[in-house]
This record gives sequence, structure tokens and C-alpha cells, in this order.
Amino acid sequence: MSEQDIKVPDLGGAEEVEVIEILVNEGDSVAEEDPILTVESDKATVELPAPAAGKITAITVKVGDKVREGDVVGTFNAEGGGDAEVGDEADVGGKADVGDRAESGDDAESADATTDSAAAESEPEAAKAEPKPSSNAGAAREETVKVPPLDGFENVPVIEINVSEGDSVEIDDPLVTVESDKATMELPSPFAGKIGKILVKEGDTLSEGDSLVEMIVSVGGEAEAESAAAPKDAEAAAPAKAPEAAKPAPESKPEATPAPSAKVHAGPAVRKLARELGADLARVQGKGPKGRILKEDVEAYIKHQLRQVQEGGAVSGGAGIPGIKLPDFSQFGETERESMSRLHVATANNMQRNWLNVPHVTQFDDADITELEDYRKSLKAEGERRGVKMTPLPFMLKACARALADLPQFNVSLDLEKKELIRKRYIHIGIAVDTPAGLMVPVIRDVDQKGLWELAQEAAELAAKARDKKLKPAEMQGACFTITSLGGIGGTAFTPIVNAPEVAILGVSKAAMQPVWDGAAFQPRLMLPLSLSYDHRAVNGADAARFTTRLSELLGDIRHLLL
Ligand code: COA
Repeated sequence: MSEQDIKVPDLGGAEEVEVIEILVNEGDSVAEEDPILTVESDKATVELPAPAAGKITAITVKVGDKVREGDVVGTFNAEGGGDAEVGDEADVGGKADVGDRAESGDDAESADATTDSAAAESEPEAAKAEPKPSSNAGAAREETVKVPPLDGFENVPVIEINVSEGDSVEIDDPLVTVESDKATMELPSPFAGKIGKILVKEGDTLSEGDSLVEMIVSVGGEAEAESAAAPKDAEAAAPAKAPEAAKPAPESKPEATPAPSAKVHAGPAVRKLARELGADLARVQGKGPKGRILKEDVEAYIKHQLRQVQEGGAVSGGAGIPGIKLPDFSQFGETERESMSRLHVATANNMQRNWLNVPHVTQFDDADITELEDYRKSLKAEGERRGVKMTPLPFMLKACARALADLPQFNVSLDLEKKELIRKRYIHIGIAVDTPAGLMVPVIRDVDQKGLWELAQEAAELAAKARDKKLKPAEMQGACFTITSLGGIGGTAFTPIVNAPEVAILGVSKAAMQPVWDGAAFQPRLMLPLSLSYDHRAVNGADAARFTTRLSELLGDIRHLLL
């Protein structure tokens, strides 16, 4: 093996280019033509390929450095040592694409110099169109802009059309972006003028000489239309540079996700990475020079997306499901917008996460609480003495604690990664509390070990704390199961959402007198509707029916709670 310099090859007329990405590390093995650096001139992004297979021993430039032809950017040990092609020849890139592109760049520049000297002088590289005189000999003329020499490439796909019909463009404004295996190039306008018909579309493949767009060019290089009216600032803000913004899509305005930028600046390696990771580059914010998207930007974007999914997804979308697009409501009538509270956002995300993650089934049943209510009412005076109101909730807490003990398959969480069930040896139950700020779920610990009065007091205290926003995080953690009672409000049944990683939740609706057949006659009984939602991965339907049946037994005759 022999150490050799890696030099910048002929840059196709560009004097100095900026290093925008370093694609290898010291010690990396590279194959011939593997990209080592990405450099960028005003008009093109080019990857400098390895001149031969070998091992990188040093990279002596950093992102942001300016380099010229012949500059040493690193060293490497060529495989096979004395390989002739890895010597000086390799530096020139004689067989690399960059060299080829450079040559054609020169051609283009000299060809242009005759037709548009102002542009040609400032133009460092290849992308020049050759205007074709038109029949219009007035103040403005028509031109068909053709594809300039493409640095030796043919059949290069169009990845972006940068202009729309009717746009005003300046000399050098990009018309379309093409991308070969190795480089992304913007083909600039050789004229100032107005875009007429666009003759290509995304996905078309182009070669030198193909027709790109028709333009109306004034004799002085300015299109007649805007010399009369449009000021430069207006042009800059015009949809010419932002074809997507011109789409008539009222729903795109209030979208939660960032609006895609109209134009993507990214090199081929970055585009390849984005394709591999499934990142939409139009949504990635570029932190490189002139907003160019770097690999780190794509990685940061993907990390952010993953974090969002892990944290429960955005309020719309998540789990790979397309978000809900909002229409422009103002077309239907007057509206106003108000920020969601943090609690509201957190609840929304939790609900969505649980709804999407947990296969829900809800089991319904009615418990006959006629006797329970009689007993509860008989406690009224004692409650007043104790300063605690005995509502139906403590009975439900106690009955659920017993049912959880009797049917421990409900007192679990699933660890699907490890394919394990986590069985809890404690019985902590959350109670959903409706507060003006939103829904909160404080947790009562060791419900099985507490008496009805203790539970009544604790539930009332926690509900009051929730309403006063005084709950501590620890008071909302550790539940095995949740009760959500709408009984004080109304309704006959509902389907609550399981509060994962718990596997079940009991919804309680309003008790009502019902005619119940006792085998001989209908009897008026106070029936309490129960709605048990459960995670069908953890609990099967028969067990759910057993759970509500057990609850009905316990609430139907609270003496069972003593057994
Ligand atoms: N059927 C009939 N009446 C019922 C009942 C039921 N299932 N549950 C409660 N009640 C009655 C109570 O007995 C009380 O009546 P009373 O004053 O005549 O004695 C009245 O309704 C109000 O009870 P409440 O103050 O709500 O006490 P509670 O202990 O039953 O409930 C909370 C406490 C915290 C659960 C309750 O206040 C609450 O916030 N519920 C809403 C929970 C929620 O929003 N869930 C939705 C989650 S998506």
C-alpha cells in the first residue's frame, strides 16, 4: 500500500467551490468512485469520488472550506499499492465523473459568451441554455431554452421544476433541477424574461439540447411585462420560486405539520439518504450553506419524527396514519382560534396513543344496587358527623378491588417487547375527575386495604385537589385500573378508553329504576349500568363477562365484600 494525496479534480470552470459535506472518516475503506466529499458551486452540487479503492488515512478539509482544482483534501492508501491509476492521474479525476463534467462545463461557458456576455462572465459552470432566435422581432422576442451540456451525463431525470408559467425570472434563476447518480444541478435561465410554456415535467429525462421552456425575452434581456409594472421585490416574493405555494389548497394553511418548503437544496448523497429513510426533503429544514439540507438535517428530522410517534404522535396523525386535514373554516362562517392548554394537549395525545395502541372491546352489564343505595342513604347522618359524603364511588372502588383480586388477569400490564406479563401484587385504582381545566386521574393506593369511609374521604380530597390543580405527579401515577363515573351526570352506557399500560377501565353510568323480572313478576330495581373496556390482547371476552358479573354480584349484595 502507498499513501497518496486526494486532490480536487478539474471543476468544470468553477474556480472555487465550498465543501458542504464530508462523506467519509479516517480509516474508512472506499471503493473506486465512492463519494468522499460534496462540494458546491453557485449552481451545482458535486460529489468528489475516490480515485481508486483503498483506505482513507486523512481528510484535511472541513465543511465550509473553499477548495480549488489541485488542492489536497486528504490522503489514502490505495489498494494494491503501486497501481498506476491511483497516482497523479487519480487526482485529476481522469476517469471520474467530475473530470468529465468539468470539460463540458468549459464548453458551455465559451458557447454562452457569445450570446450573453453579462451572464457568461459571472457564470462559473456548465448550466447554460442556448437561446434560439424567434420570429418575433419586436421589443421582446421568444426563445426556447435548451438543456446545456450536462457534464457528460445523458438522460438525467428532472427532480424539480423551479418555475411556473407566467413567472418572471432573472438571468441565472434556476429553471429546473436535474439529478444524476453523482450530482444535482440546477439549470439556470440564460435570460431575464417571462416563462411561457414549460416543456418538461418532473421525472422526464433530459440530455443536452432538449427543449426546456419557452420564454419571452426583451431585447435588453428584460421581459416587457415586468419592466412596466413589477418591482424586483414583488418578483422575489412571487410564486415563481414557490410553485407549491401557488396551489389552490385552502386546507394547507392551518396544517399542524410545517409547510413544505417550495424548493429543496440537497446533494445526491443527502437525497439518497432521505429516500432510504423515507424522509420528505421538502419538510426538512436545511442548516447548511444557503439553507442546503445536510445529512445531519435529515437525521435530525427523522429523530424528531420518531420521538413524536413514541410520545404519542402529533394531535393529528401518528402510527403512520395520515393526519386529518383541516378545511379553511372561514369559508363556512366566522371562527376564532384559541390555544389548547398543556393538559388538553397531553390528554389528547394520551387518548390517541391509547386508542391506536390498544385493541378495545367493551363489555356491558347492569348491577342491581337497590339495597346498596338503601344502605348508602342510611349512612347519611354518619357522613355528616364525619364530614364526609358517602357517594356510590367508594362502593365501586371496593367492588373493583375485590374483582381485581379475584380475576388477577385484569391486574397486569403487557411488556410486548419482552413478551412478558407484568403482574401487580398491589391494587391501586385511578378515578377520572372532571375539572374545569380538563380530565385528571388521581390514584387511590391499596384500595383493597381501605374501608369505605377512608375511601370516601380520600376520593373527595383527591377530586378537590384535581379541581384546584394541586395534584402532585406522584398522586397520578401507579394505577392498576381506572374507574370513570359519569353517574352523577347521566347517560346509559359508554365506551371508555383504556388508560394504558393498564388493561381495563370501568365506566359507570347513571343508576335508574328498571322493571326487573324476578321469575313471577316485574320488580322496580335500581340498576347501575357498567361499561368495562379492556385490552383484548391481555383479557379475553369470557373473563370480561366474568369481571362484570362479579362486580354485579358484589354491588348487588355488599355483604360479599366482607367475605
Ligand atoms: N348513578 C346515579 N347517581 C349517581 C351515580 C350513579 N352512578 N354516581 C354518583 N351519583 C350521584 C351521587 O350520589 C350524588 O348525588 P347526591 O348528591 O344526591 O348524593 C351526585 O350524583 C354527585 O356525585 P359526585 O359528586 O359526582 O360524586 P361521586 O363520588 O359519584 O364522583 C367524581 C366523584 C370525582 C368521580 C365525579 O365528581 C366526576 O368528576 N365524574 C366525572 C368523571 C369523568 O369526567 N369521566 C369521564 C372520563 S372520559
